[in-house]
Amino acid sequence: MKVLGIETSCDECSVAVVEDGKHILSNVVATQIALHTPYQGVVPEIASRLHTEWISQVVQSALDQASMTVKDVEAVAVTNRPGLLGALLVGVNFAKGFAATLDVPFIGIDHIRAHLYASQIEQPLEYPYLGVLVSGGHTVICKVNSYDEIDVMGTTIDDAIGEAFDKVAKHHGFGYPGGVIIDRLAQNGDPLAFLFPGPSLQKGDHPYDISYSGLKTAVINQLDQFWNGTSPKTPENIAASFQRTAVGILMKRIRKALEDTGLTRLAAGGGVAANSLLRSELKKLEGIEVAFPSMKLCTDNGAMIAGLAYRYLADGISSPLDTTASARVTAFKKSYP
Ligand code: KG4
Ligand code: ZN
Repeated sequence: MKVLGIETSCDECSVAVVEDGKHILSNVVATQIALHTPYQGVVPEIASRLHTEWISQVVQSALDQASMTVKDVEAVAVTNRPGLLGALLVGVNFAKGFAATLDVPFIGIDHIRAHLYASQIEQPLEYPYLGVLVSGGHTVICKVNSYDEIDVMGTTIDDAIGEAFDKVAKHHGFGYPGGVIIDRLAQNGDPLAFLFPGPSLQKGDHPYDISYSGLKTAVINQLDQFWNGTSPKTPENIAASFQRTAVGILMKRIRKALEDTGLTRLAAGGGVAANSLLRSELKKLEGIEVAFPSMKLCTDNGAMIAGLAYRYLADGISSPLDTTASARVTAFKKSYP
């Protein structure tokens, strides 16, 4: 089954065709980054206007690259939650119109579940596995029991990990978006130039919850306080020290979650899953089978939407045409510990 997947939840206008949930025939990502760069962040009104202007062309490119015509599309999937409402609506309305015209099934897909699923297109793991979603909007550690059943163990209590990368980069003038730039600067930096504190694992109800606001404040407002006194205060050294601590905070919770659940498999997803230090730390986990999305499947893309959609469609599940978009996170109810 050839599924067309549309993703317009934020600043990437992306359309893919995935066959039977595993063969990516095309995955076109038209990024709006350059058009948001003057504002050092995503401007929702600009995002939705550009999606409206671009979507038809991006769909056409995805079909062309897959050597298909519209008649070959067997189902249409779209991110319908969560995200920027105006941006989501562009994709959702386009997808519904397209599916109705072609008289093929339509399905709305949860963006968070799709990030957690992305690695499974290329590197399927047996369920259950520990899911680690690290993106600009979310940090989630969860037990993934099936493509549709997720037990959230810990989540962002303030800034998401990608948001912390972006805000640190913005404050220090490294550029936008911050994640990739910090990753690159850190390659040539001393990770011990600044000894930033990480929050200790919380006792009580939510030991896997994750906070980045303390680290962000330290890197932005209290740099001198954590300086080792010798290494130069260069962007490279700030980036490497921040990245070491940010990844360390996450790894500590991941190790605890693996230990407490006894899970032996882990799948990462989301933009920050492209981070080189995080990838190498996850690979070092002993006795754990780790799946990562390839770089293009880490950040927002239509292939993860079409890939996950296939699982639902194969089980006979689709969405009614009165399905709408929602900005809110509805995928998870915390059920751990
Ligand atoms: O998954 P994504 O494209 O969008 C959301 O759903 O949020 O993630 C975007 C986030 C941004 O915060 C960006 O700075 C971060 O992923 N990011 C990275 C890297 N590449 C992208 N963060 C750290 N290291 C990277 N290499
Ligand atoms: Zn995303």
